[in-house]
Amino acid sequence: MPSEPGRPELLRTPRLAVRRFTVDDLDDVAALLGDRQVMRYLDDGWPVPREVVAGATLPMILREYELLPPGLGCWAVCERDGGAFAGWVALRPANSRGLTGGTELGYRMRVGVWGRGYAAEAASALVAAAFDGRFGGPDVDRVVATTMTVNRASRRVMEHIGLRYVRTFFEYWPDPIEGSEHGDVEYALTRTEWESLPI
Ligand SMILES: CC(C)(COP(=O)(O)OP(=O)(O)OC[C@H]1O[C@@H](n2cnc3c(N)ncnc32)[C@H](O)[C@@H]1OP(=O)(O)O)[C@@H](O)C(=O)NCCC(=O)NCCS
Repeated sequence: MPSEPGRPELLRTPRLAVRRFTVDDLDDVAALLGDRQVMRYLDDGWPVPREVVAGATLPMILREYELLPPGLGCWAVCERDGGAFAGWVALRPANSRGLTGGTELGYRMRVGVWGRGYAAEAASALVAAAFDGRFGGPDVDRVVATTMTVNRASRRVMEHIGLRYVRTFFEYWPDPIEGSEHGDVEYALTRTEWESLPI
């Protein structure tokens, strides 16, 4: 599948294309973040209204392509076979509550594609490209990720791509969601550790 005009491709995996978002992706992003199952362990646990996606989330994603070093930001994940939107994968300077430093990995997939290993496939390719300097930006030395302790699927993705458990921690959440009493977990992978992962 060639890169679509105006939607430059960042990288490819055997099954997926990872590319920039554009304003034309509003419907897909709104559907992703509007899904209660996707949002169950994220933010306040509630779907994000379409008007918030249109007015804040998507514009911020697009602005980040100009503000962040090359390769960092939030990227659309699409199936190479047919081009269907599958979800997103993101790498940014860490800013989740409780994290201190590092480059933070995140991912969200449409419920319809869960269980196919897409998140790990896209995320491991993105992490590899960040570590091997392919993007040409400043060095990425340590990738971190955090999720609710009870978010088993997310933790499995981290483990599949080589991140290691660092700690469990507890932050104050004004509107705690189910499972938050078990806290959050942090996982990390340094460039040196990544270099010694089995291929
Ligand atoms: C986390 C997420 C991205 C995983 O995506 P995915 O492409 O389905 O990942 P995988 O196919 O590699 O599956 C990862 C693990 O989740 C499990 N899983 C898949 N579908 C599942 C489901 N419906 N319920 C529970 N676990 C499920 C898989 O069995 C796998 O575990 P295993 O390796 O022990 O078998 C996806 O579940 C998601 O988008 N969740 C909502 C958003 C979210 O929580 N993002 C992470 C924020 S930190």
